[in-house]
Amino acid sequence: MTALDARPDTRANLRFPDAFRWGTATAAYQIEGAAAEDGRTPSIWDTFSRVPGKVRNGDTGDIAADHYHRMREDVALMSRLGITDYRFSIAWPRVQPTGRGPAVQKGLDFYRRLVDELLTAGIRPVATLYHWDLPQELEDAGGWPQRETARRFAEYAGIMASALGDRVATWTTLNEPWCAAFLGYGSGVHAPGRTSALASLRAAHHFNLAHGWAAQVLHAALPGSAEVSLTLNLHAVRPHSDAAADIDAARRIDAVGNRVFLDPVFHGRLPEDLLTDTASVTDWSFVQDGDLEVASTPIDSLGINYYSPTVVAAGSCEGPSPWAGAEEHVQFLPAPGPRTAMDWPVDADGLYELLARLRDDLPGVPLVITENGAAYDDYADPSGEVHDPERVAYLRAHLTAVHRAIEDGADVRGYFLWSLLDNFEWAYGYSKRFGIVHVDFATQRRTFKDSARWYADVIARGGLSA
Ligand code: FCB
Repeated sequence: MTALDARPDTRANLRFPDAFRWGTATAAYQIEGAAAEDGRTPSIWDTFSRVPGKVRNGDTGDIAADHYHRMREDVALMSRLGITDYRFSIAWPRVQPTGRGPAVQKGLDFYRRLVDELLTAGIRPVATLYHWDLPQELEDAGGWPQRETARRFAEYAGIMASALGDRVATWTTLNEPWCAAFLGYGSGVHAPGRTSALASLRAAHHFNLAHGWAAQVLHAALPGSAEVSLTLNLHAVRPHSDAAADIDAARRIDAVGNRVFLDPVFHGRLPEDLLTDTASVTDWSFVQDGDLEVASTPIDSLGINYYSPTVVAAGSCEGPSPWAGAEEHVQFLPAPGPRTAMDWPVDADGLYELLARLRDDLPGVPLVITENGAAYDDYADPSGEVHDPERVAYLRAHLTAVHRAIEDGADVRGYFLWSLLDNFEWAYGYSKRFGIVHVDFATQRRTFKDSARWYADVIARGGLSA
Protein backbone atom coordinates (compact mmCIF):
# COMPACT_ATOMS: atom_id res chain seq x y z
CA MET A 1 0.00 0.00 0.00
CA THR A 2 1.31 3.42 -0.88
CA ALA A 3 0.55 7.08 -0.74
CA LEU A 4 0.12 7.56 2.97
CA ASP A 5 -2.43 4.75 2.87
CA ALA A 6 -5.02 7.04 1.35
CA ARG A 7 -5.17 5.96 -2.25
CA PRO A 8 -7.53 8.33 -4.07
CA ASP A 9 -10.25 6.66 -6.03
CA THR A 10 -10.41 9.20 -8.81
CA ARG A 11 -8.01 8.91 -11.74
CA ALA A 12 -5.88 11.71 -12.98
CA ASN A 13 -6.98 14.05 -15.76
CA LEU A 14 -3.42 14.37 -16.96
CA ARG A 15 -2.40 10.74 -16.83
CA PHE A 16 1.18 9.63 -17.39
CA PRO A 17 2.14 6.37 -19.11
CA ASP A 18 1.62 3.31 -16.88
CA ALA A 19 5.34 2.51 -16.86
CA PHE A 20 6.28 6.08 -15.84
CA ARG A 21 8.76 6.17 -12.94
CA TRP A 22 8.00 8.49 -10.03
CA GLY A 23 11.16 9.24 -8.11
CA THR A 24 12.94 11.48 -5.68
CA ALA A 25 16.62 12.40 -5.83
CA THR A 26 19.38 13.20 -3.35
CA ALA A 27 23.19 13.34 -3.37
CA ALA A 28 25.66 11.85 -0.91
CA TYR A 29 27.46 14.98 0.27
CA GLN A 30 24.20 16.86 0.64
CA ILE A 31 22.53 14.39 3.01
CA GLU A 32 24.83 11.72 4.43
CA GLY A 33 26.97 13.47 7.03
CA ALA A 34 29.26 10.98 8.82
CA ALA A 35 32.07 12.72 6.99
CA ALA A 36 34.89 11.04 8.87
CA GLU A 37 33.27 7.71 9.70
CA ASP A 38 34.12 4.19 8.61
CA GLY A 39 37.16 5.17 6.62
CA ARG A 40 35.71 8.02 4.55
CA THR A 41 38.31 10.66 3.73
CA PRO A 42 37.74 14.29 2.69
CA SER A 43 36.31 15.11 -0.68
CA ILE A 44 36.85 18.41 -2.44
CA TRP A 45 33.59 19.62 -0.87
CA ASP A 46 34.85 18.90 2.66
CA THR A 47 37.89 21.02 1.87
CA PHE A 48 36.09 23.77 -0.03
CA SER A 49 33.36 24.21 2.58
CA ARG A 50 36.08 25.00 5.11
CA VAL A 51 37.48 27.86 3.06
CA PRO A 52 36.15 31.04 4.68
CA GLY A 53 33.54 32.78 2.56
CA LYS A 54 32.91 29.92 0.15
CA VAL A 55 29.77 28.46 1.75
CA ARG A 56 27.09 30.53 3.40
CA ASN A 57 27.34 30.61 7.22
CA GLY A 58 30.45 28.43 7.02
CA ASP A 59 28.18 25.37 6.72
CA THR A 60 29.71 21.99 5.86
CA GLY A 61 28.35 18.53 5.07
CA ASP A 62 29.87 17.05 8.26
CA ILE A 63 26.44 16.11 9.60
CA ALA A 64 24.02 17.24 6.88
CA ALA A 65 20.72 15.35 7.20
CA ASP A 66 22.52 12.52 9.04
CA HIS A 67 21.22 10.12 6.42
CA TYR A 68 24.16 7.77 6.98
CA HIS A 69 22.61 6.92 10.34
CA ARG A 70 18.97 7.41 9.39
CA MET A 71 18.90 5.62 6.06
CA ARG A 72 16.18 3.14 7.08
CA GLU A 73 13.91 5.91 8.32
CA ASP A 74 14.43 7.81 5.06
CA VAL A 75 13.62 4.79 2.89
CA ALA A 76 10.51 4.26 5.01
CA LEU A 77 9.46 7.85 4.26
CA MET A 78 9.74 7.17 0.53
CA SER A 79 7.82 3.99 0.91
CA ARG A 80 4.97 5.84 2.62
CA LEU A 81 4.89 8.30 -0.27
CA GLY A 82 4.67 5.56 -2.88
CA ILE A 83 7.94 6.60 -4.55
CA THR A 84 8.80 4.02 -7.24
CA ASP A 85 12.48 4.97 -7.83
CA TYR A 86 15.18 6.55 -5.68
CA ARG A 87 18.12 8.38 -7.22
CA PHE A 88 21.03 8.60 -4.77
CA SER A 89 24.73 9.11 -5.24
CA ILE A 90 27.69 7.14 -3.99
CA ALA A 91 30.41 9.07 -2.17
CA TRP A 92 33.61 8.06 -3.93
CA PRO A 93 35.77 8.91 -0.84
CA ARG A 94 33.60 6.59 1.25
CA VAL A 95 34.25 3.53 -0.91
CA GLN A 96 37.71 4.27 -2.32
CA PRO A 97 39.14 6.95 -0.01
CA THR A 98 42.25 7.87 -1.94
CA GLY A 99 40.66 7.41 -5.34
CA ARG A 100 43.02 4.50 -5.97
CA GLY A 101 43.38 0.89 -4.98
CA PRO A 102 41.09 -1.39 -3.05
CA ALA A 103 37.67 -0.45 -1.75
CA VAL A 104 36.75 0.04 1.89
CA GLN A 105 34.33 -2.67 2.95
CA LYS A 106 32.39 -0.51 5.40
CA GLY A 107 31.75 2.07 2.73
CA LEU A 108 30.48 -0.54 0.31
CA ASP A 109 28.36 -2.05 3.07
CA PHE A 110 26.47 1.19 3.60
CA TYR A 111 25.37 1.29 -0.03
CA ARG A 112 24.58 -2.45 0.05
CA ARG A 113 22.31 -1.88 3.01
CA LEU A 114 20.68 1.07 1.27
CA VAL A 115 20.06 -0.89 -1.91
CA ASP A 116 18.73 -3.89 0.02
CA GLU A 117 16.43 -1.63 2.01
CA LEU A 118 15.13 -0.04 -1.20
CA LEU A 119 14.54 -3.37 -2.89
CA THR A 120 12.72 -4.68 0.17
CA ALA A 121 10.51 -1.60 0.03
CA GLY A 122 9.86 -2.18 -3.68
CA ILE A 123 11.77 0.96 -4.70
CA ARG A 124 14.06 0.83 -7.74
CA PRO A 125 17.65 1.98 -6.94
CA VAL A 126 19.13 4.51 -9.37
CA ALA A 127 22.77 5.13 -8.45
CA THR A 128 24.89 8.08 -9.51
CA LEU A 129 28.62 7.44 -9.32
CA TYR A 130 29.75 11.05 -9.23
CA HIS A 131 27.78 13.89 -7.71
CA TRP A 132 30.75 16.23 -7.24
CA ASP A 133 32.58 14.72 -4.25
CA LEU A 134 36.00 13.95 -5.74
CA PRO A 135 38.45 12.43 -3.23
CA GLN A 136 40.69 15.31 -2.18
CA GLU A 137 43.80 13.24 -2.95
CA LEU A 138 42.81 13.15 -6.61
CA GLU A 139 42.33 16.90 -6.65
CA ASP A 140 45.75 17.31 -5.06
CA ALA A 141 47.12 15.26 -7.95
CA GLY A 142 45.55 17.67 -10.45
CA GLY A 143 41.83 16.87 -10.37
CA TRP A 144 39.57 16.75 -13.42
CA PRO A 145 41.82 18.87 -15.66
CA GLN A 146 44.12 15.83 -15.59
CA ARG A 147 43.42 12.79 -17.74
CA GLU A 148 44.47 10.44 -14.95
CA THR A 149 41.35 11.39 -12.95
CA ALA A 150 39.17 9.94 -15.72
CA ARG A 151 41.13 6.67 -15.49
CA ARG A 152 40.67 6.63 -11.72
CA PHE A 153 36.94 7.14 -12.21
CA ALA A 154 36.67 4.15 -14.53
CA GLU A 155 38.38 1.99 -11.91
CA TYR A 156 35.96 3.21 -9.24
CA ALA A 157 33.03 2.47 -11.59
CA GLY A 158 34.31 -1.10 -11.86
CA ILE A 159 34.46 -1.44 -8.08
CA MET A 160 30.86 -0.33 -7.74
CA ALA A 161 29.67 -2.51 -10.61
CA SER A 162 31.08 -5.60 -8.93
CA ALA A 163 29.75 -4.61 -5.52
CA LEU A 164 26.20 -3.67 -6.51
CA GLY A 165 25.83 -4.50 -10.18
CA ASP A 166 23.36 -7.28 -9.54
CA ARG A 167 20.96 -5.03 -7.66
CA VAL A 168 21.05 -1.49 -9.04
CA ALA A 169 18.62 -0.91 -11.90
CA THR A 170 20.18 2.21 -13.41
CA TRP A 171 23.72 3.54 -13.15
CA THR A 172 24.33 7.19 -13.84
CA THR A 173 27.99 7.93 -14.43
CA LEU A 174 28.05 11.69 -13.72
CA ASN A 175 25.73 14.30 -12.35
CA GLU A 176 25.90 17.68 -14.09
CA PRO A 177 29.47 17.64 -15.36
CA TRP A 178 28.83 21.23 -16.52
CA CYS A 179 28.64 22.45 -12.92
CA ALA A 180 31.55 20.29 -11.83
CA ALA A 181 33.78 21.55 -14.67
CA PHE A 182 32.71 25.14 -15.14
CA LEU A 183 31.62 26.16 -11.63
CA GLY A 184 34.35 24.06 -10.02
CA TYR A 185 37.29 25.06 -12.23
CA GLY A 186 36.01 28.15 -14.12
CA SER A 187 34.08 30.54 -11.87
CA GLY A 188 35.25 28.83 -8.68
CA VAL A 189 31.92 29.05 -6.87
CA HIS A 190 31.90 25.27 -6.41
CA ALA A 191 34.65 22.94 -5.21
CA PRO A 192 37.53 22.89 -5.79
CA GLY A 193 37.18 26.63 -6.38
CA ARG A 194 39.65 27.13 -9.21
CA THR A 195 39.25 29.99 -11.70
CA SER A 196 40.82 28.99 -14.99
CA ALA A 197 39.00 28.82 -18.32
CA LEU A 198 41.57 26.34 -19.58
CA ALA A 199 41.18 24.11 -16.53
CA SER A 200 37.38 24.13 -16.97
CA LEU A 201 37.58 23.04 -20.63
CA ARG A 202 40.12 20.34 -19.83
CA ALA A 203 37.86 19.17 -17.01
CA ALA A 204 34.85 19.10 -19.36
CA HIS A 205 36.73 16.89 -21.79
CA HIS A 206 37.93 14.56 -19.06
CA PHE A 207 34.38 14.25 -17.78
CA ASN A 208 33.29 13.12 -21.25
CA LEU A 209 36.15 10.64 -21.32
CA ALA A 210 35.46 9.43 -17.77
CA HIS A 211 31.82 8.97 -18.65
CA GLY A 212 32.67 6.91 -21.74
CA TRP A 213 35.23 4.73 -19.99
CA ALA A 214 32.86 4.14 -17.08
CA ALA A 215 30.01 3.32 -19.48
CA GLN A 216 32.24 0.67 -21.09
CA VAL A 217 33.21 -0.79 -17.72
CA LEU A 218 29.58 -0.82 -16.57
CA HIS A 219 28.25 -2.40 -19.77
CA ALA A 220 30.88 -5.13 -19.53
CA ALA A 221 30.23 -5.87 -15.87
CA LEU A 222 26.49 -5.51 -15.50
CA PRO A 223 23.68 -7.86 -16.33
CA GLY A 224 21.80 -7.02 -19.52
CA SER A 225 18.86 -5.57 -17.64
CA ALA A 226 20.90 -2.78 -16.01
CA GLU A 227 20.83 0.63 -17.66
CA VAL A 228 23.68 3.10 -18.03
CA SER A 229 22.94 6.80 -18.13
CA LEU A 230 24.38 10.29 -17.78
CA THR A 231 22.73 13.31 -16.17
CA LEU A 232 23.24 16.77 -17.68
CA ASN A 233 21.93 20.12 -16.51
CA LEU A 234 21.10 21.30 -19.99
CA HIS A 235 20.57 25.02 -20.28
CA ALA A 236 17.26 26.05 -21.82
CA VAL A 237 18.86 28.99 -23.60
CA ARG A 238 16.68 31.73 -25.05
CA PRO A 239 17.88 34.72 -27.03
CA HIS A 240 16.46 37.95 -25.64
CA SER A 241 15.35 39.05 -29.14
CA ASP A 242 15.45 37.98 -32.77
CA ALA A 243 18.47 40.20 -33.40
CA ALA A 244 21.30 38.24 -35.00
CA ALA A 245 23.72 39.25 -32.19
CA ASP A 246 21.35 37.91 -29.50
CA ILE A 247 20.84 34.69 -31.43
CA ASP A 248 24.61 34.34 -31.67
CA ALA A 249 24.91 34.89 -27.91
CA ALA A 250 22.46 32.01 -27.40
CA ARG A 251 24.47 29.83 -29.79
CA ARG A 252 27.64 30.47 -27.77
CA ILE A 253 26.02 29.49 -24.50
CA ASP A 254 24.41 26.45 -26.11
CA ALA A 255 27.89 25.39 -27.28
CA VAL A 256 29.73 25.81 -23.98
CA GLY A 257 26.72 24.95 -21.83
CA ASN A 258 25.10 22.03 -23.68
CA ARG A 259 26.80 20.79 -26.83
CA VAL A 260 30.19 20.54 -25.08
CA PHE A 261 28.71 17.33 -23.59
CA LEU A 262 25.88 16.40 -25.97
CA ASP A 263 28.04 16.29 -29.11
CA PRO A 264 30.86 14.11 -27.74
CA VAL A 265 28.47 11.77 -25.92
CA PHE A 266 25.88 11.32 -28.65
CA HIS A 267 27.80 12.12 -31.82
CA GLY A 268 31.46 11.43 -30.98
CA ARG A 269 32.61 14.93 -31.96
CA LEU A 270 33.28 18.33 -30.48
CA PRO A 271 31.16 21.23 -31.79
CA GLU A 272 33.09 23.17 -34.44
CA ASP A 273 31.78 26.49 -33.14
CA LEU A 274 32.96 25.67 -29.61
CA LEU A 275 36.48 25.08 -30.94
CA THR A 276 36.37 28.46 -32.68
CA ASP A 277 34.84 30.29 -29.72
CA THR A 278 37.48 28.95 -27.31
CA ALA A 279 40.49 29.25 -29.64
CA SER A 280 42.06 31.98 -27.49
CA VAL A 281 41.88 29.68 -24.44
CA THR A 282 43.05 26.39 -25.94
CA ASP A 283 43.69 24.43 -29.10
CA TRP A 284 42.13 21.37 -27.41
CA SER A 285 45.32 19.37 -27.96
CA PHE A 286 44.56 17.53 -24.72
CA VAL A 287 41.93 15.58 -26.70
CA GLN A 288 43.70 12.40 -27.79
CA ASP A 289 42.93 10.09 -30.69
CA GLY A 290 40.00 7.83 -29.85
CA ASP A 291 38.76 9.93 -26.90
CA LEU A 292 35.60 11.06 -28.64
CA GLU A 293 34.82 7.53 -29.70
CA VAL A 294 35.10 6.49 -26.05
CA ALA A 295 32.89 9.40 -24.98
CA SER A 296 30.19 8.26 -27.41
CA THR A 297 29.93 4.74 -26.01
CA PRO A 298 26.19 4.03 -26.35
CA ILE A 299 24.08 4.60 -23.24
CA ASP A 300 20.51 3.66 -22.43
CA SER A 301 19.00 6.99 -21.48
CA LEU A 302 19.79 10.65 -20.86
CA GLY A 303 19.01 12.28 -17.51
CA ILE A 304 18.06 15.95 -17.54
CA ASN A 305 18.12 18.30 -14.58
CA TYR A 306 16.03 21.40 -15.09
CA TYR A 307 15.22 24.30 -12.78
CA SER A 308 14.87 27.48 -14.88
CA PRO A 309 15.67 28.95 -18.29
CA THR A 310 18.66 31.08 -19.30
CA VAL A 311 17.97 34.30 -21.21
CA VAL A 312 20.91 35.85 -23.04
CA ALA A 313 21.70 38.84 -25.22
CA ALA A 314 24.76 40.25 -26.92
CA GLY A 315 26.94 42.12 -24.44
CA SER A 316 29.39 41.12 -21.78
CA CYS A 317 29.43 40.10 -18.16
CA GLU A 318 31.94 40.17 -15.36
CA GLY A 319 34.25 37.35 -14.40
CA PRO A 320 35.40 35.10 -12.98
CA SER A 321 32.91 33.45 -15.24
CA PRO A 322 32.12 29.83 -15.93
CA TRP A 323 31.72 30.50 -19.65
CA ALA A 324 35.29 30.01 -20.90
CA GLY A 325 35.46 33.30 -22.79
CA ALA A 326 31.81 33.58 -23.86
CA GLU A 327 31.33 36.21 -21.13
CA GLU A 328 33.05 38.71 -23.42
CA HIS A 329 30.17 38.36 -25.90
CA VAL A 330 27.14 37.50 -23.79
CA GLN A 331 25.09 39.07 -21.05
CA PHE A 332 22.56 37.22 -18.94
CA LEU A 333 19.15 38.76 -18.42
CA PRO A 334 16.63 37.92 -15.74
CA ALA A 335 13.74 35.87 -17.10
CA PRO A 336 10.42 37.45 -16.13
CA GLY A 337 7.98 35.94 -13.67
CA PRO A 338 7.94 34.67 -10.10
CA ARG A 339 11.12 33.43 -8.41
CA THR A 340 12.06 30.75 -5.96
CA ALA A 341 14.12 31.31 -2.81
CA MET A 342 17.21 30.74 -5.00
CA ASP A 343 16.05 33.75 -7.03
CA TRP A 344 15.63 31.35 -9.94
CA PRO A 345 12.72 32.20 -12.26
CA VAL A 346 9.78 29.81 -12.33
CA ASP A 347 9.26 28.95 -15.99
CA ALA A 348 7.96 25.51 -16.87
CA ASP A 349 7.97 26.30 -20.60
CA GLY A 350 11.75 26.02 -20.47
CA LEU A 351 11.41 22.36 -19.53
CA TYR A 352 8.98 21.75 -22.37
CA GLU A 353 11.34 23.49 -24.83
CA LEU A 354 14.26 21.37 -23.67
CA LEU A 355 12.33 18.12 -24.00
CA ALA A 356 11.02 19.04 -27.44
CA ARG A 357 14.54 19.89 -28.58
CA LEU A 358 15.93 16.58 -27.32
CA ARG A 359 13.06 14.70 -28.97
CA ASP A 360 14.15 16.25 -32.26
CA ASP A 361 17.94 16.20 -31.77
CA LEU A 362 18.33 12.77 -30.14
CA PRO A 363 15.68 10.52 -31.64
CA GLY A 364 15.62 7.10 -29.99
CA VAL A 365 17.24 8.27 -26.73
CA PRO A 366 14.91 7.74 -23.77
CA LEU A 367 14.78 10.79 -21.50
CA VAL A 368 14.42 10.95 -17.73
CA ILE A 369 13.98 14.10 -15.66
CA THR A 370 16.57 13.32 -12.99
CA GLU A 371 16.07 16.58 -11.07
CA ASN A 372 13.40 19.22 -10.89
CA GLY A 373 12.14 21.10 -7.88
CA ALA A 374 12.31 24.37 -5.99
CA ALA A 375 13.61 25.99 -2.81
CA TYR A 376 11.27 28.08 -0.71
CA ASP A 377 11.58 29.49 2.81
CA ASP A 378 9.67 26.68 4.47
CA TYR A 379 9.09 26.46 8.20
CA ALA A 380 7.05 24.31 10.53
CA ASP A 381 4.03 26.19 11.88
CA PRO A 382 3.06 25.97 15.59
CA SER A 383 1.13 22.77 14.96
CA GLY A 384 4.19 21.26 13.29
CA GLU A 385 2.82 21.41 9.74
CA VAL A 386 4.84 22.70 6.81
CA HIS A 387 2.71 24.41 4.18
CA ASP A 388 4.50 24.97 0.88
CA PRO A 389 1.92 25.96 -1.71
CA GLU A 390 4.52 27.61 -3.97
CA ARG A 391 6.42 24.33 -4.28
CA VAL A 392 3.21 22.47 -5.13
CA ALA A 393 2.46 25.08 -7.81
CA TYR A 394 6.01 24.79 -9.18
CA LEU A 395 5.85 21.00 -9.33
CA ARG A 396 2.39 20.99 -10.87
CA ALA A 397 3.45 23.41 -13.60
CA HIS A 398 6.57 21.40 -14.41
CA LEU A 399 4.82 18.05 -14.42
CA THR A 400 2.22 19.56 -16.72
CA ALA A 401 5.04 20.59 -19.04
CA VAL A 402 6.45 17.05 -18.95
CA HIS A 403 3.02 15.64 -19.76
CA ARG A 404 2.65 18.02 -22.69
CA ALA A 405 6.08 17.02 -24.00
CA ILE A 406 5.14 13.33 -23.79
CA GLU A 407 1.90 14.03 -25.67
CA ASP A 408 3.99 15.79 -28.29
CA GLY A 409 6.22 12.79 -28.78
CA ALA A 410 9.09 13.16 -26.27
CA ASP A 411 10.07 9.77 -24.85
CA VAL A 412 10.18 10.76 -21.16
CA ARG A 413 10.31 7.71 -18.93
CA GLY A 414 10.39 9.20 -15.44
CA TYR A 415 10.58 12.18 -13.12
CA PHE A 416 12.79 12.53 -10.05
CA LEU A 417 11.79 15.32 -7.74
CA TRP A 418 14.67 17.25 -6.20
CA SER A 419 14.71 16.64 -3.37
CA LEU A 420 13.48 14.07 -0.89
CA LEU A 421 15.00 15.95 2.06
CA ASP A 422 16.07 19.46 2.91
CA ASN A 423 19.84 19.29 2.61
CA PHE A 424 23.22 21.00 2.18
CA GLU A 425 22.68 23.17 -0.89
CA TRP A 426 26.34 23.54 -1.90
CA ALA A 427 27.51 27.18 -1.72
CA TYR A 428 24.21 28.12 -0.02
CA GLY A 429 24.72 25.66 2.84
CA TYR A 430 21.55 24.90 4.79
CA SER A 431 19.96 28.25 3.96
CA LYS A 432 17.95 26.82 1.03
CA ARG A 433 15.36 24.11 1.45
CA PHE A 434 14.54 21.96 -1.58
CA GLY A 435 12.99 19.00 0.24
CA ILE A 436 9.45 17.71 0.18
CA VAL A 437 10.39 16.43 3.61
CA HIS A 438 11.33 19.17 6.08
CA VAL A 439 14.44 18.50 8.14
CA ASP A 440 14.95 20.28 11.45
CA PHE A 441 18.75 20.28 11.38
CA ALA A 442 18.99 20.75 15.18
CA THR A 443 17.01 17.58 15.96
CA GLN A 444 17.11 15.80 12.55
CA ARG A 445 13.35 15.44 12.82
CA ARG A 446 11.68 14.77 9.46
CA THR A 447 8.22 16.16 8.63
CA PHE A 448 6.28 15.74 5.42
CA LYS A 449 5.61 19.09 3.82
CA ASP A 450 2.26 19.53 2.04
CA SER A 451 4.15 18.97 -1.23
CA ALA A 452 5.10 15.45 -0.10
CA ARG A 453 1.44 14.56 0.44
CA TRP A 454 0.59 16.17 -2.88
CA TYR A 455 3.30 14.16 -4.69
CA ALA A 456 2.08 10.95 -3.04
CA ASP A 457 -1.34 11.73 -4.41
CA VAL A 458 0.05 12.35 -7.91
CA ILE A 459 1.87 9.02 -7.81
CA ALA A 460 -1.19 7.15 -6.59
CA ARG A 461 -3.31 8.66 -9.37
CA GLY A 462 -0.63 8.21 -12.01
CA GLY A 463 -0.75 11.86 -12.91
CA LEU A 464 -2.27 15.23 -12.18
CA SER A 465 -5.85 15.96 -11.38
CA ALA A 466 -7.44 19.28 -12.28
C1 FCB B 1 21.62 20.78 -9.02
C2 FCB B 1 22.42 19.75 -8.25
C3 FCB B 1 21.75 19.27 -7.00
C4 FCB B 1 21.01 20.37 -6.28
C5 FCB B 1 20.15 21.17 -7.22
C6 FCB B 1 19.35 22.28 -6.56
O1 FCB B 1 22.48 21.55 -9.79
O2 FCB B 1 22.68 18.62 -9.06
O3 FCB B 1 22.71 18.65 -6.20
O4 FCB B 1 21.86 21.14 -5.54
O5 FCB B 1 20.93 21.70 -8.24
